[in-house]
Amino acid sequence: MSPNQPGQMPKMPIPGVKYLIAVGSGKGGVGKTTVAVNLAVGLASLGYKSGLMDADVYGPNVPLMMGVNSTPMAYGDRIQPLQQFGVKLMSMGFLNPGDKPLVWRGPMLHSVIQQFLRGVDWGELDYLVIDLPPGTGDVQLSLIQTAPISGAIVVTTPSDVSLEDARKAVHMFHQVRVPILGIVENMSFLECPHCHQRIDVFSYGGGRRTANEMQVHFLAELPLDPQVRLGGDTGKPVVLRKGEGEPFLELARRTMERAAEAAKEQAPPIEITD
Ligand SMILES: Nc1ncnc2c1ncn2[C@@H]1O[C@H](COP(=O)(O)OP(=O)(O)O)[C@@H](O)[C@H]1O
Ligand SMILES: [Mg+2]
Repeated sequence: MSPNQPGQMPKMPIPGVKYLIAVGSGKGGVGKTTVAVNLAVGLASLGYKSGLMDADVYGPNVPLMMGVNSTPMAYGDRIQPLQQFGVKLMSMGFLNPGDKPLVWRGPMLHSVIQQFLRGVDWGELDYLVIDLPPGTGDVQLSLIQTAPISGAIVVTTPSDVSLEDARKAVHMFHQVRVPILGIVENMSFLECPHCHQRIDVFSYGGGRRTANEMQVHFLAELPLDPQVRLGGDTGKPVVLRKGEGEPFLELARRTMERAAEAAKEQAPPIEITD
């Protein structure tokens, strides 16, 4: 099966980038940026060349969560990505710092996304993680239809409202023929720091159940943990912490496995000539 639908724009590879991994969700606030940031940093800490592109141009949170606040330089027509914790970074937040929102419409958004993908000097990368904006709208489609995405991760909480939107995100990726690496259940449970009992704040298990129903993989359940929030707010991703970071490292390992599997499934049949 061709990864491109008939009539669709060809998905030009990004030279030097082996795997392009999109992190999406149907809803905001479910931990998509948290997953994208910790995944990119986790991959770097496992020894891989990793990058993180913040495609949430209206609500770029990558600068804060990575603790970076400077302006990228441009040499010629190439923008140099910033770097933190071994991860190359690009975000609208670096170009439009402060609280003033951007007011852009479709074509402008499309060109910014293309600029981020192809006008940034990503160099050689094993993994480029893309933090998508929430939902299934213009930016997502523009990116998904033009970028050679190796696979997508859908983040959800176990609550029914979040799961409902996660199913839409899975359908969107299916429709545009982007392989789904799997579903991540974030804020899966809380372990009481006093009595160590588990509390299912947003319910539990819906991510795995939905993955089974939709016949996609289930990647990880990530606990609701104040250290995760703190890591985000202070720009020190929790994956760098011993103990609390382990579920995110495990997610990074699973993602690598799934990306390799998805690449094999997508690979065109080898032509045998004599
Ligand atoms: N597992 C978690 N435990 C605790 N806080 C979390 C967790 N995941 C995300 N958060 C916090 O929830 C808020 C929303 O997460 P964020 O990653 O910005 O969501 P999204 O990108 O989907 O809008 C942030 O303050 C983040 O630090
Ligand atoms: Mg976000």
